[in-house]
This record gives sequence, C-alpha cells and structure tokens, in this order.
Amino acid sequence: MNTNFDVMISQEKLEKRIKEMAAELDKEYEGRTVHLVGILKGSVMFMSELAKNMKSELTMDFISISSYGDGTSSSGIVRLNKDLDESIEGRDVVIVEDIVDSGRTLSYVRRMFEDKAPKSLKIITLLDKPDRRVVDCKVEMSGFVIPDKFIVGYGLDYAQKYRNLPYIAVVS
Ligand code: IMP
Ligand code: MG
Repeated sequence: MNTNFDVMISQEKLEKRIKEMAAELDKEYEGRTVHLVGILKGSVMFMSELAKNMKSELTMDFISISSYGDGTSSSGIVRLNKDLDESIEGRDVVIVEDIVDSGRTLSYVRRMFEDKAPKSLKIITLLDKPDRRVVDCKVEMSGFVIPDKFIVGYGLDYAQKYRNLPYIAVVS
C-alpha cells in the first residue's frame, strides 16, 4: 500500500463537530458527572478533543477491544484485551468510539456494559459507516456519516499506522 492521502474530513471540520457534540453532552448531563469510556486505540484523539471541550465534571476509563486484524476487513471475532479499571455501577457512562463499521464491536460492548448496571449508558461515535452494518447496533450520537471507504487518521489506523494524522483520509 503506498501512501496517498485524500482528505475526507478536515481537522477544522472535525474540531467544529466535536465541539458541538461536547456542548450537546454538557446540556444532557448538566449537574452530573460523566464517565467517559474510550475504546482503545482508535478513540484516543476523539476522546481527548471531546473531553477538552466539555465543561461537565468528568472521569475517564478505557477498554481495549479487537475486532480487526491488520487488514481492512473485519474478522468477525471480538476480543476484550483490556477491561475497565473502575466499576461503572450506578454511573452515567458514555462509551466513546472512533467508528461503527459492521457494528460487532459496539453490540458486544453494549451488552457487556448493560450487564454492569450503569445508571445510564450512551454510545457516541465520531464516524458511522452504515453501509457496512452486519449487526444491528444502536448509537446515540454520531459525528459524521461516511461512505463505505477505508479511512485512516484522527486515531484510526491501517496496520497500526497513520493514527496521528490530524484529519480523516482515504488511503489510495
Ligand atoms: P466493527 O466492529 O466492524 O463495527 O468495527 C469497529 C472497529 O473497526 C473500529 O473501532 C475501528 O477500529 C475498525 N475500523 C472500522 N472501519 C475502519 C476504517 O475505515 N479504518 C480504520 N479502522 C476501521
Ligand atoms: Mg476501534
């Protein structure tokens, strides 16, 4: 794979949309403590930009899941590599994900979290690729709906690379 990046979503657009999402969450959780749970590693950029823009009191945790190998299509197997550090029981939990593709990761994660009795549970994703959905999965808020293209940047990788690009790009 050579490395030609076609920008799909600029840094400016990402930051503007994430600010809106942060404001929406602030409004919904007014007066409460939001427990953000990021799904490693793809969500790191989104989660930090989101958190920086939120005014609510918040706490953070991370889990690590793999559903992709190093290729560009889903293996269909979801594995938990790193569990939560803290209990989510009775907390207002917001799961922060980079992208919903087949939906396998988030449907697994939602089931896992619902079993742990949070006070409330919301899933938010920066990107949504609805054309690729295999498993039905509910997402409460998404940043951008995108076409069925393999993308990198802003936390998303191809074979662990390009996560540091400050924009979302299609590799060609
Ligand atoms: P799902 O379980 O098929 O919904 O896949 C979700 C995970 O696959 C995401 O959290 C990403 O880590 C990865 N993924 C899905 N689509 C892309 C893409 O276009 N580029 C990079 N990673 C992707
Ligand atoms: Mg991911």
